[in-house]
Amino acid sequence: MKLFDVYPLFDIVPVSGNGCYITDQDGIEYLDLYGGHAVISVGHSHPVYVQKITEQLQQIGFYSNSVQNPMQEELAYKLGELSGYPDYSLFFCNSGAEANENALKLASFHTGKGRIIAFEKAFHGRTSAAVAITDNPKIISPLNDTVLRTLLPLNRADLLESALQKGDVAAVIVEGIQGVGGCVVPEAEFLQETSVLCKKYGALLILDEIQSGYGRSGKFFAHQYASIRPDIISVAKGMGNGFPIGGILISPDLKPWSGMLGTTFGGNYLACAAGIAVLDIMKGEHLVENAFEVGNYLFGKLAAIPQIKELRGKGLMIGIEFDFPIATLRKQLLFEEKIFTGVTGSHVIRILPPLTLTSAQCDLFVDALIKLLK
Ligand SMILES: Cc1ncc(COP(=O)(O)O)c(C=O)c1O
Repeated sequence: MKLFDVYPLFDIVPVSGNGCYITDQDGIEYLDLYGGHAVISVGHSHPVYVQKITEQLQQIGFYSNSVQNPMQEELAYKLGELSGYPDYSLFFCNSGAEANENALKLASFHTGKGRIIAFEKAFHGRTSAAVAITDNPKIISPLNDTVLRTLLPLNRADLLESALQKGDVAAVIVEGIQGVGGCVVPEAEFLQETSVLCKKYGALLILDEIQSGYGRSGKFFAHQYASIRPDIISVAKGMGNGFPIGGILISPDLKPWSGMLGTTFGGNYLACAAGIAVLDIMKGEHLVENAFEVGNYLFGKLAAIPQIKELRGKGLMIGIEFDFPIATLRKQLLFEEKIFTGVTGSHVIRILPPLTLTSAQCDLFVDALIKLLK
């Protein structure tokens, strides 16, 4: 059997990882500024993470959500404390798209309405409702196209209010920082106005923090720069440092009923072990603070490079836009300088490293970039 060929692949086979580095089958080491697409939060193969999952596997790997699982409560408690949302509750799932899918469904249950407002350049995942509100018609199938949705430009509170006035909106969903969109940060005032407008018109505010959350922006959640409190926050990626786990943080105003949401794998022992290890490491090693400081350092260094057209993002989520196509530059970074980076479209390099990145590793990248741009 062959693989269903949907991914353009680099000819690299990683076989091990350590902190901010991965090593391929030929023994070549790469500085990982891509983090496996913003997934690696506490670094590759962190010893505490490895030990926690290994020990758990030796005890019990899986049962189901029909029995007590105190590890889920431990993870929820630690996440509430570290994120600043101790009064919210947590529903577990397995991926980012699934987190958004549950967030949208919960908003629709709560409001009794069906329309979702999302924003241009948004990416919310590839499952039915999540992909329907993603701004990429190419990946929306006719089946997905049945979801009621309104796509608006970001930062236009006037247009948002007109759409909400129609009275059929269950939720407004926005990324803390648009990832696939190229690290576009919504204006703080716009997020604040959005929060007020949602309350005024009885719609819920969902913050998709799947890419921008879990410390990446230099705050636990990117929306915390705007001091708002959404009704639902979706998380995944960095939550498990590579182990598939996602979830939604839910405001105490939203009440559950038995059977309202459900999942087979969500919150299983191994996922919880991974998620608890991530939170323990993040807290113990001050990784949110590190993302803030090292991110600012890197931003400052990049700002001095004249060939860069625009820099966007916060913390360790940085979009570097050039006024020329960057495919060759990215390949040179990878194959000549041994530095993995991400990309958005044809002109933006995206930096999404492990949150353990050091300023010395930033220097390696900046020096390589300057050399290649000469
Ligand atoms: C902002 C955002 N939302 C949702 C998703 C979907 O996550 P997953 O691929 O885990 O389904 C992604 C993935 O890149 C994302 O960046």
